[in-house]
Amino acid sequence: MNAIESVNVALDAAPENRGYTIHIGQGLLSRMDLLLPHLPGKKAAIVTNTTVAPLYLEKLRTALAAHQVETFAIILPDGEQYKNRETLNLIFDALLEHRCERKTPLIALGGGVIGDLTGFAAATYLRGVPFIQIPTTLLSQVDSSVGGKTGINHPLGKNMIGAFYQPRLVLTDTTTLATLPDRELRAGMAEVIKYGLIHDAAFFDWLEHHIKQLLARDSTAMNYAIRRSCEVKAEIVSLDERENGLRALLNLGHTFGHAIENAMGYGSWLHGEAVAAGTLMAADLSRRLQRITLRDVDRIRCLFENTGLPVKGPRLSPDRYLESMQLDKKVKDGAIRFILLDRIGKASLDDAVPAPLLLETLSACVADA
Ligand code: NAD
Ligand code: GLY
Repeated sequence: MNAIESVNVALDAAPENRGYTIHIGQGLLSRMDLLLPHLPGKKAAIVTNTTVAPLYLEKLRTALAAHQVETFAIILPDGEQYKNRETLNLIFDALLEHRCERKTPLIALGGGVIGDLTGFAAATYLRGVPFIQIPTTLLSQVDSSVGGKTGINHPLGKNMIGAFYQPRLVLTDTTTLATLPDRELRAGMAEVIKYGLIHDAAFFDWLEHHIKQLLARDSTAMNYAIRRSCEVKAEIVSLDERENGLRALLNLGHTFGHAIENAMGYGSWLHGEAVAAGTLMAADLSRRLQRITLRDVDRIRCLFENTGLPVKGPRLSPDRYLESMQLDKKVKDGAIRFILLDRIGKASLDDAVPAPLLLETLSACVADA
């Protein structure tokens, strides 16, 4: 049997312990010994999409059926542009048609879009039903399946409607990465690099030295990168589940990145690609504020370039960026707040960035005409 690594997300001790485990390893889609203890009954809904269903749905359903768990599948259209209230309603329609009750768990089988939609449906259907994450993209395995942020996009702003709702289990089968397109793998790396930048300089160094193995999907390197990412996220989430402070650091590059996704039309830039360009903008702004050196910015740019990710944003006017950034969840009293770098391995929140410096970054960090 292949080795399994486990990371605990510690949340609230007794009386209501909502902590849970992230299991990471090969072939976990068949490991019902890990999943069954978290299913309250003999019925479950699996939410997935038209791309993931032909790859992994039957495997999961067959494994559950062998333990007399009856499942039905809700197969959604694929794409960030479907992470909206219309698609959310398709989930509710199916749950009601199948007479799902408070004990019927929702299992998200897919990437971050499926996880965010399913989690929000689980948080709100009958005011809350059990939720399990089975992430199948690198991005969802290192980030979106962990920490309980769920939700949908609004035409005016990314992820603006949602709920904090934790899963009972995250089952990460790393063999699913074998079918992931290269572009999606690279996009997931943007969030992996983020953990090194905000929290762990040694991990950033390690990524610089192992990026080739990771892009070649070397399983030892990949398992380490996933586990270390989950450890960092679990530590931050357990200290600040509701993002009163520390958790905001996980949004490095996201203020700019979400603006890119929104302004370009959801699905045009992948989330990880927008985060990559956004992280370079945050690094540039940090340098203009004399928090980090030009050498640090060059190291960061080099790692993103070696990963094959964009290091400049799309050529939009500064006003267009600012318009989208005004609809960021971190906005406070109308002011945009930024996660900036103090050095590689340490970040902090800044709510008083001088407008001229921000405008300089928005002009300097976009693609040439
Ligand atoms: P995604 O869910 O759109 O998946 C990317 C693509 O890969 C899709 O086409 C999907 O069908 C396909 N796919 C999934 N698994 C596959 C597999 N094993 N083999 C082949 N194809 C596969 O995108 P994503 O990058 O996983 O997630 C991005 C979303 O996650 C964004 O909406 C973002 O806002 C959200 N997100 C949420 C959090 C959070 O904390 N909740 C954190 C980061 C990102
Ligand atoms: N991805 C940001 C967070 O989970 O807080």
